[in-house]
Amino acid sequence: MDDLRSADWYRGGDRNSYIHRAWMRRGLPDDALDGSKPQIAIANTASDLTPCNMHLNEVAESVKQGIWAAGGVPYNLPVVSLGETQVKPTAMLWRNMAAMAMEEMFRANPIDGVVLLGGCDKTIPALLMAAASVNLPAIVVPGGPMLTGHFRGEALGCGTDVWRLSEEARAGTITNGQFTESEGSMIRSKGHCNTMGTASTMAIVAEALGMTIPGFAGTPAPDSRLLVMSHETGRLIVDLVKHDRRPSDIMTKGSFLNAIVAVAAAGGSTNSVVHLLAIAGRLGIDLTLEDFDVAGRGVPVLANLQPSGTFLMDDLYRAGGVLALLAQVKDLLHPEPITVTGAPLIDYLENRPVYDATVILPRATPLMADAGIAVLRGNLAPSGAIIKPAAATPALLHHRGPALVFDSIEDMHARIDDPDLDVDADTVLVLRGCGPRGYPGMPEVGNMPIPRKLLEAGVRDMVRISDARMSGTAYGTVVLHVAPEAAAGGPLGLVRTGDFIELDVEGRRLHLDVSDAELAARSQSAETVAAFAAPTRGWTKLYIEHVMQADTGADLDFLIGSSGDRATRESH
Ligand code: FES
Repeated sequence: MDDLRSADWYRGGDRNSYIHRAWMRRGLPDDALDGSKPQIAIANTASDLTPCNMHLNEVAESVKQGIWAAGGVPYNLPVVSLGETQVKPTAMLWRNMAAMAMEEMFRANPIDGVVLLGGCDKTIPALLMAAASVNLPAIVVPGGPMLTGHFRGEALGCGTDVWRLSEEARAGTITNGQFTESEGSMIRSKGHCNTMGTASTMAIVAEALGMTIPGFAGTPAPDSRLLVMSHETGRLIVDLVKHDRRPSDIMTKGSFLNAIVAVAAAGGSTNSVVHLLAIAGRLGIDLTLEDFDVAGRGVPVLANLQPSGTFLMDDLYRAGGVLALLAQVKDLLHPEPITVTGAPLIDYLENRPVYDATVILPRATPLMADAGIAVLRGNLAPSGAIIKPAAATPALLHHRGPALVFDSIEDMHARIDDPDLDVDADTVLVLRGCGPRGYPGMPEVGNMPIPRKLLEAGVRDMVRISDARMSGTAYGTVVLHVAPEAAAGGPLGLVRTGDFIELDVEGRRLHLDVSDAELAARSQSAETVAAFAAPTRGWTKLYIEHVMQADTGADLDFLIGSSGDRATRESH
């Protein structure tokens, strides 16, 4: 190990090192700040307003013990936290802000490595983006899913059953009282959503990228083994600093391709696309939408978990866990990428038995044979759009129908349940103005509700297209992330109600059946693209001016590429 980075702050007899040491001593042993012990930040997204991460202070204590045990010095570093269900207008508006703030604090402080404590949807992506930018030794601690709650004898999947039950209430098949009664049963314990939603997906992504101790992701939040693994992570980060093993050594193109395979096998969230693209962007890795289609194509969904399947994260852990799942697709993984331990991921996939083959399905009988995230292109999405076939209705994967256009979610909410709405089961619902710039923040509204009159007639899925995202716990034949978005001048802004749209997932095609000449004429028309009020100050102004489109990860353009860990100027 060369000189520690933190020694720049602490070693020496001058006035500056005196100041850095003196203010930090506060009961630390004399040798804690002599420049010989790795200084480790625990980037902690615990917050009472991020309910899925509330328990992370307890987890941080176990990490701290591990760091002390290995000869390091731990520091709790509270960082920006995002409660997916709480913040308005959407947590995605703040992902880049959280990542930027974390990045700056990692760089500015006297630390040699960082443990990343995340859980709820945007927290692990933001932590990984920041760690990739600074490139100090780093390990993720995934906070873990909650235990399964039950209502009237049936397991409740977080999110997924909210969508299902709310549609049932709208359809009148359950009462509003029954709907609200289920509310107290859904969140049974500490931890994040227990479906294969975005939080579970991003925990698996972190593990497949090599950024967790192998076998950690998916450990339920209340399980004592979570604290054991957290302690081990504390020990390992000190070792990582000593070996100078950095995120750029671990997160390579191959590990991103492995993460794409892992998401496909898990039936994971479409949100992983924008997050993986953004993390790769911070590392300068050339990851494209096509990589998702190529690497994910032909990968079977083997995790029988909601929203695609039946079970929940607690069941996955019981059935053998994430490593048992990845062992089923070992032949599809790149063998070279290493993990934080220094050993390749695939070394951890030997002898990983499946204890319940109804949860982790055999390759011979998958939940879906070919269900990576499909990337669509066409005159409606020149820069691409995505769909998750595993969450779609097979009969709708090839569909042609007339568009019904909504210019905003307010417009959609105002009209969707109108009994006079001109809509039938073949209609293609189009929602625009909900991309990164348009909303702003690219909310999870792409899974538009089915019009009430169709719900009452028994329709439960329709083709829906938007420039928005979709909750990882949602399902349906939903085309998302259309790029360029309408607010950036994309052709989605040119669609008119009654135009025919063709979706061909097998052919990877999304086509607006309108001539180029007509589209050119419409683009000159004032009635096409809805204007949005440009913000005049603060983060949102910065975001609007610099956010990129979904096909490149919706990061800010000036945050692409690593900036390293160098803090150049003394503060006194
Ligand atoms: Fe936090 Fe689902 S709301 S993980």
